[in-house]
Amino acid sequence: MKHALVIGASGGIGRAVAEELTRRGVAVTTLSRRDDGLDITDPASVAEVMGRQDGPFDLIFVATGILSPDGTGPEKSVSAIEAAIMAEVLAVNAIGPALVVQAALPLLPRDTPSVLAVMSARVGSIGDNKIGGWHSYRASKAALNQIVRGTAIEMGRTHKKAVCVALHPGTVATPFTADYAGRHKTVPPDEAARNLVDVLTGLEPAQSGRFFDYSGAEVPW
Ligand SMILES: NC(=O)c1ccc[n+]([C@@H]2O[C@H](COP(=O)([O-])OP(=O)(O)OC[C@H]3O[C@@H](n4cnc5c(N)ncnc54)[C@H](OP(=O)(O)O)[C@@H]3O)[C@@H](O)[C@H]2O)c1
Repeated sequence: MKHALVIGASGGIGRAVAEELTRRGVAVTTLSRRDDGLDITDPASVAEVMGRQDGPFDLIFVATGILSPDGTGPEKSVSAIEAAIMAEVLAVNAIGPALVVQAALPLLPRDTPSVLAVMSARVGSIGDNKIGGWHSYRASKAALNQIVRGTAIEMGRTHKKAVCVALHPGTVATPFTADYAGRHKTVPPDEAARNLVDVLTGLEPAQSGRFFDYSGAEVPW
């Protein structure tokens, strides 16, 4: 791995992954809303910012996402679902990454190995859902997982040495989990990043279109 593009590099996981890649000698280009004006909910912004990147990149890592809009929390039950909030979560966590993936494809090499990895979450797994709640977030990540799967199938035709995967990072101590960390054991972002980069560097094309956690174990869809 020589050149990586990290999208959402202002976030806890995105920043740590960019730093870990740099430590391993990879030349890293970082993009974020805060520093580069890349708003993934705005198709014009995605086209403009992604369009001025100079590929090819042998790793594109998408680390954007929200648990819920500011000032709200994830729903405890179906009765708490609100249309506008669900629409915003889907816009950031599913439609936004879909636009980023679309814009990323021309930046990946066609004939040499590459990885397109998108941060999902285990709670987006339908098969793994045993407790309900968090409807918007879960639905947004399930939708994202389907986009990853479909993209991987299509990339298998055009980018034969590429791998496209969804990843679960573990429960990581970032602003994202600040309100929930007390109840869950968390890992620091640098440890999560080491784990994720280890997984990324070990992926083979036969694993494309699948969902893996930070230890490399497969997560059910
Ligand atoms: N932390 C965990 O335990 C955990 C567990 C499972 C999955 N994940 C997933 O991992 C990913 C990263 O999480 P994190 O913990 O690093 O969260 P974080 O520290 O809150 O970072 C979130 C990132 O998303 C970006 N972002 C949000 N809305 C955006 C938008 N409209 N356009 C562009 N960028 C946007 C933020 O950009 P700006 O700050 O520049 O606005 C920031 O870079 C998310 O997809 C999350 O679902 C995290």
